[in-house]
Amino acid sequence: MAAMSRSLALAFFFFFFLCSASIVSADDSFLQCLSASIPSQLLYTQSSPSYTSVLDAAVRNPKFLTNTTRPVWIITPTNASHVQAAVLCGRRNSVRLRIRSGGHDYEGLSYRSERPEVFAVLDLVNVRSVRVDAQSGTAWVDSGATLGEMYYAIGKAGGQIAFPGGLCPTVGVGGHFSGGGFGMLLRKYGLAADNVIDAVLVDAKGRLLDKNSMGSDVFWAIRGGAGESFGIVLSWKVKLVAVPPTVTVFNIPVTVNKGAIDVLTRWQAVAPALPDDLFIRVLVQGQTASFQSLYLGTCDALLPVMRSRFPELGMNRSDCKEMTWIKSVPYIYLGSSATVEDILNRTISMDTSNKATSDYVRQVIPKDVWTTIFGWLARPNAGLMILDPYGGQIGSVPESATPFPHRGGVLYNIQYMNFWSAGGSGDAQRAWISDFYAFMAPHVSSSPREAYANYRDLDLGENVVGAGGVSGYDAGKVWGEKYFRGNYQRLAMAKGQIDPDDYFRNEQSIPPLVSGK
Ligand SMILES: Cc1cc2nc3c(=O)[nH]c(=O)nc-3n(C[C@H](O)[C@H](O)[C@H](O)COP(=O)(O)OP(=O)(O)OC[C@H]3O[C@@H](n4cnc5c(N)ncnc54)[C@H](O)[C@@H]3O)c2cc1C
Ligand SMILES: *[C@@H]1O[C@H](CO)[C@@H](O)[C@H](O)[C@H]1NC(C)=O
Ligand SMILES: *[C@@H]1O[C@H](CO)[C@@H](O)[C@H](O)[C@H]1NC(C)=O
Ligand SMILES: *[C@@H]1O[C@H](CO)[C@@H](O)[C@H](O)[C@H]1NC(C)=O
Ligand SMILES: *[C@@H]1O[C@H](CO)[C@@H](O)[C@H](O)[C@H]1NC(C)=O
Repeated sequence: MAAMSRSLALAFFFFFFLCSASIVSADDSFLQCLSASIPSQLLYTQSSPSYTSVLDAAVRNPKFLTNTTRPVWIITPTNASHVQAAVLCGRRNSVRLRIRSGGHDYEGLSYRSERPEVFAVLDLVNVRSVRVDAQSGTAWVDSGATLGEMYYAIGKAGGQIAFPGGLCPTVGVGGHFSGGGFGMLLRKYGLAADNVIDAVLVDAKGRLLDKNSMGSDVFWAIRGGAGESFGIVLSWKVKLVAVPPTVTVFNIPVTVNKGAIDVLTRWQAVAPALPDDLFIRVLVQGQTASFQSLYLGTCDALLPVMRSRFPELGMNRSDCKEMTWIKSVPYIYLGSSATVEDILNRTISMDTSNKATSDYVRQVIPKDVWTTIFGWLARPNAGLMILDPYGGQIGSVPESATPFPHRGGVLYNIQYMNFWSAGGSGDAQRAWISDFYAFMAPHVSSSPREAYANYRDLDLGENVVGAGGVSGYDAGKVWGEKYFRGNYQRLAMAKGQIDPDDYFRNEQSIPPLVSGK
């Protein structure tokens, strides 16, 4: 009894200690420093009434709402001077910044820490204008814009321009471009990052830099080397791409009973070698493979291509849906009844938590292995696979031209994903993913086993912070070479140039490699 009340008293003591600690530090010199340059209504401490609503507004995975280290402060800048002030105040007061654009990071690293840490979230939700210049075929897009906001502005500006980014309209431009970014136009036009031609960056010294002043190594690094590592990218200048007035969409589900295994086995060789105007991805879930396509042209033009290149799918005129490119964005991701305005909606359903990871396939997986894979997908608590074909433009860029190395020779990307209801532990679903990932090892890329940086997975490895307070280069290879292959070292050298002290860091940021040290 006595022991119990003592431990209760101790628990209360720590409770009050922890609570007041954050309030005490919120009153400290970091906040005072910020207040000198940033209006107080753009600053939040843990005791601010709207702290939780501001923070949770861009949490995209309910599993990160609890049981994690949250920021002590949130800063919502409206302009570049505020961002520069946040960096200078942060450095002066040893407060790190986690940068958040759309909050879709698969590990939530833009707003939470795996380890105990005192940090602030710099949330770019108010930095989100999109300025399209249809005449020159370019646009300046702020990092806090969503892909939906960007596509919407492009759609308004003219009928035959588009941008090759991801499918999900709520994804943030800031994180997406930083890690590469791909969607249904990847075979024709490559990655989002491949189409970036300038950028505005605030570095660890608080300097505002453009393409020329940041230097060619850093400009190379921010286009695919993933977010957080090199500073805060405020804005991106992109090249828009041409699309015809009519595109054609189809979605053909094929069940295992109707021959899904044969069609899928064939798809692996066919899809990466199709004409660049034709993209066919596959969603594999349960005992069904759904072949989802975007074709840059009319149904009349598509039918003969399908008949000659992929007759096994049995696609015909009744499968075709013709529309404009901008209408295809909500149609493909949100469903046939969604409108173009729906892609402006920044709210997403929070009913399920999820876990994801990825692979790259460079050699066709044999038919008997697909039979076994469908067995995995039939197990209790199974998740799904999304297969995105490469080839075309994404494959023709040299491996070292950008940090994103999954180019020539890649047949397709696999994303594994599993879901569970928001309140649950997800233990069974996580176990399914990790067991299935282990099973897949002999059938996917190896040495290193490649993974896509934008499908972040901390199970691939985490940074180890050394004695000097700097993330270690060698320890980072474990995950870094999976995401970046031979480009990891050059990324670490760029990091050494722009942020040798490792101010901008998280569990998977690029460690600095400083020559001569
Ligand atoms: C539902 C869903 C659908 C997706 N669909 C696709 C898809 O179709 N194609 C695809 O390629 N990917 C897709 N992704 C992955 C997505 O591209 C990445 O998660 C991306 O990093 C998210 O960007 P964000 O700004 O929303 O995320 P955030 O969580 O805000 O940021 C991600 C990382 O980048 C850093 N960061 C953010 N903004 C900046 C900035 N301005 N400067 C520097 N660093 C910054 C953050 O600190 C964090 O480390 C999807 C993800 C989800 C959750
Ligand atoms: C909280 O997180 C820790 C460490 O990540 C984990 O071991 C634990 O199971 C989590 N608890 C709950 C209730 O999710
Ligand atoms: C940013 O806003 C502040 C007001 O909070 C203003 O003083 C400053 O000049 C602005 N800076 C820029 C670059 O617009
Ligand atoms: C066209 O294909 C669909 C399946 O994709 C099939 O149901 C339909 O019968 C086919 N129609 C013709 C005319 O072949
Ligand atoms: C935005 O999306 C959310 C989640 O799907 C939905 O609940 C909400 O009604 C949508 N808002 C609007 C204005 O359409």
